[in-house]
Formats: sequence, C-alpha cells, structure tokens
Amino acid sequence: MSEASAAFLDGLFGLSGKTAVVIGGTGVLGGAIAEGLAKAGAFVMVAGRGADRGEARVAAIQAAGGQAAFASVDVTSRESVETLLQTTLHTTGQADILVNCAGVNSALPYLEIPDDEWEKVITTNLTSTHLGCQIFGGHMAAEGGGAILNIGSVSADKPLSKVFAYSASKAAVVNYTKNVARELAPQNVRVNVLCPGFFPAEQNRKVLSPDRIATIMSQTPMDRFGEPAELVAAAILLVSSVGGSFMTGSEVYVDGGFTGMRL
Ligand SMILES: NC(=O)c1ccc[n+]([C@@H]2O[C@H](COP(=O)([O-])OP(=O)(O)OC[C@H]3O[C@@H](n4cnc5c(N)ncnc54)[C@H](O)[C@@H]3O)[C@@H](O)[C@H]2O)c1
Repeated sequence: MSEASAAFLDGLFGLSGKTAVVIGGTGVLGGAIAEGLAKAGAFVMVAGRGADRGEARVAAIQAAGGQAAFASVDVTSRESVETLLQTTLHTTGQADILVNCAGVNSALPYLEIPDDEWEKVITTNLTSTHLGCQIFGGHMAAEGGGAILNIGSVSADKPLSKVFAYSASKAAVVNYTKNVARELAPQNVRVNVLCPGFFPAEQNRKVLSPDRIATIMSQTPMDRFGEPAELVAAAILLVSSVGGSFMTGSEVYVDGGFTGMRL
C-alpha cells in the first residue's frame, strides 16, 4: 500500500488518541473487537468478568503493539458500570468509545422458562446496554461527543426459535439504540448497533446442536459461520469519528446473508 493510501485509511478509520471501553472484551466477539480497535490505534479497556480471560486479551493486544488494560465489571450492576467509567478515566483520562458486548443466552422450552432465567437474559443483554449507554453516554455528552456501539443479533430482525428471552432482548437493544441515538445526537454522541449472524462462542455453544446448525446453514446464503475477525471492520467504521461521522441509529448486519433470506 502506498503512503498516501495508508494515510487516507488512517484518516478515515484510525483511532489513535482515543480510549475505547469494550464491555464483554473477555468474550469471543468482544475480544476480537477489542483487538481490532487496539490495532486501529485506540487504548482499549478490556472489561468484563473473568480476570484471566481479560488479562490474556490485554497481553495479546500488547504483544501486537497495542495499548490495553483490564477492568472487572458486572454489567448487571449500575454501581459496577459507574466504577468502570471512573477506572477508565483514572487510567487514560478519557472515555471516547464504548462497545456494549456482554451477553448471555438461554434455550428452554417456552412454557418452562423460569422467571429467574428470563430475568438473567434480559438484565445481562438489555439492562446492561441501558446502563452502559446512560452512564458512558452521559459522560460523553458532557465532554462534547463520543461513540457507542451496541451489539444486537440477527434475532432482533427474525425471532429465533428456542431462545425467547434472547430474541426479545436483542430486538429491544435495536429499538433502544435508535431512541438513544436520537436523544444524544445534539450532544454529538453517536449510537449504533452491530448485529452479528452466527459465530460459535461460549454463550451459544449449548444452543448450537447439529440439527440447529443444519437449519442455520440452510438459511445462510454464505453457508458457513462467521469468524470473529469479520466483525472488526464494521465495528471500526461505526465507532470512527471520521469514517462513521454521519452514522447514528444505524443497524448494521454482518451475517453471511441470513437476514436477507425469506423462505
Ligand atoms: N456469537 C454469536 O453468534 C452472536 C451472534 C449475535 C450476537 N451475539 C452477541 O455478541 C455479544 C458477545 O457474545 P459472544 O458470542 O462473544 O459470547 P461470549 O460468551 O464469548 O462473550 C460474552 C461475554 O459477556 C460476559 N458477561 C456475561 N455476563 C456478564 C456480566 N454480568 N458482567 C460482565 N460480563 C458479562 C461473559 O463473561 C463473556 O466474556 C453478546 O451480546 C451476544 O449476544 C453473538
């Protein structure tokens, strides 16, 4: 690549000088996004449960020449998310980008879903997104701007069988993202939602039985699972203040064509 091309791309998508907090950076997709944002130049705060996985991700980012630190957070607790913001400000003095990428799944027969299981999925996937947007979005608004990326799912568009609370939570995350995008646009805080298709990870391992995989592939034109690295470019676009400058309330699907299929 020529120097001029590299400078052009860096101007559009480079994140040098920014601090990005990736909640759920301990997980498969959040970890890939955290590494991608660090390679684009951001200092990345890898946040989540499980210090071992978080520290391993930080080590991988640093080994690749990036800057990162781990911070523990429980996304279901307002106090914990507020502490994460303070820890981030203490570490780099700024919090320009937030990625809300924690999540859990649960597959149970509809008539047998216990209340506590429903509550866990809704709280971890939806309420956590609200806490992150409100707490970090409030800070960004006060500081003159920022970017928030929420993580939806193809189940936001088509409700997926067997995962009732999960599908409901993700449909709500998309709706909520658009509402917050409108609310914070005057303060220059952009809020978008990235909706992945199917990527094997910890939270969906139990859900992906051989029968279900066959059904998913029959409705995925590209006939394969996604690789976590395939989410990175879309994530960088959506959080970039230059490349994504006129994008807010956008719902972007990276799903091998799944959402476009109608049987
Ligand atoms: N993998 C897929 O196919 C797929 C598809 C669409 C959407 N998503 C979404 O992507 C996001 C990341 O999921 P993933 O597939 O990488 O799964 P994953 O299980 O690898 O990662 C999820 C992360 O969330 C963290 N987490 C869960 N509860 C938490 C809590 N209370 N506090 C802090 N952290 C908590 C977990 O520790 C884990 O690190 C989720 O929102 C998920 O719903 C995944």
